[in-house]
Amino acid sequence: MPSAALISVASWLPEARLTNADLEQLVDTSDEWIRSRTGIAERRIAAPGDATSDLAARAGAIALDRAGVQPADVDLLIVATSTPDMVFPSTACLAQAKMGLTCPAYDLNAACTGFIYAIEMATAMIESGRARTIMVIGADVLSSIVDYTDRSTCILFGDGAGAVVLQASEEPGVLSVHLGADGTGADLLYVPAGGSAAPVTPENLAAGDTYLKMNGNEVFKFAVRAIPGVTKQALADSGLTTDDVDWLVPHQANQRITDTVAQRLGIAHERVVCRIEDIGNTSAASIPIALDSLYRDGRLRAGNILALVGFGAGLTYGAAIVRWTRED
Ligand SMILES: CC(C)(COP(=O)(O)OP(=O)(O)OC[C@H]1O[C@@H](n2cnc3c(N)ncnc32)[C@H](O)[C@@H]1OP(=O)(O)O)[C@@H](O)C(=O)NCCC(=O)NCCS
Repeated sequence: MPSAALISVASWLPEARLTNADLEQLVDTSDEWIRSRTGIAERRIAAPGDATSDLAARAGAIALDRAGVQPADVDLLIVATSTPDMVFPSTACLAQAKMGLTCPAYDLNAACTGFIYAIEMATAMIESGRARTIMVIGADVLSSIVDYTDRSTCILFGDGAGAVVLQASEEPGVLSVHLGADGTGADLLYVPAGGSAAPVTPENLAAGDTYLKMNGNEVFKFAVRAIPGVTKQALADSGLTTDDVDWLVPHQANQRITDTVAQRLGIAHERVVCRIEDIGNTSAASIPIALDSLYRDGRLRAGNILALVGFGAGLTYGAAIVRWTRED
């Protein structure tokens, strides 16, 4: 059975920055409060007219180039997003056209865990022999559903995209993936209106129900409870322990969540990839963006064991244990 190796990674971030000082002008908050409670200093915001598929296609094009793969050779495109361009067609179809791909393409919504869920889908397709080369993109324009009058949420989120190309390989790549979901926590992080449960009306629009709502304390508790367990489970599935992890690449939601998770796993700070300070929470994009930082910094070595871990609305959570195989 072939393994699924990550043969490239890339990311794309908008130019515009929304700093804590900017947010001080919008809501009753302070740079000190935001930094100390979240670790965030600034976020990137998509340019007017740029949709999720635009960010996705730009990250995907770089990943394709780094992989040395021709568009015609991609067998499947999965875009993980919870801020699609529109209800349909899928953001994946729109990004597929922008990248000149010709393969099947679909969206996957597991919120901030979407990238890990998509890695599981891609790995299963490659291991079963149904596909040889798959592109997975995590992309979100959270600014399109953030209420910039709500200080408890608008400080957290930013826009961005990250992409990987997976390919069938004789060398072990994705070693194991463990996923979880608990729909009883759906109301802890959600967008009340705009779906079939509550189509947009003048009333719910005026009430701000088309914006993201969150119970921050409960989401925080869920994350620090669920993530250590699912990471250990995924490691155990590969016969590994936390001692084997060269890099923990967590979903970048809050520096305090990352620190607590790393401490509970017994993984030293130097082995944890932190990118939240300058980009905030970019949802499904955050893990591949962090992984790309590690790659571009030259810190990623062939043979390194990565624990990619995510959590988010759903509630969803998941961990992928990956052996990095690229030599440069
Ligand atoms: C949102 C979050 C930063 C809030 O931090 P917290 O330490 O839990 O703060 P609390 O919600 O308990 O609020 C504490 C106080 O700060 C206030 N506060 C909230 N946001 C504030 C802001 N931006 N600036 C200043 N004060 C703020 C609250 O109103 C509250 O005031 P009160 O004590 O007078 O009622 C934190 O809960 C969090 O990050 N949770 C996880 C969210 C997450 O990761 N979501 C995405 C998952 S994918």
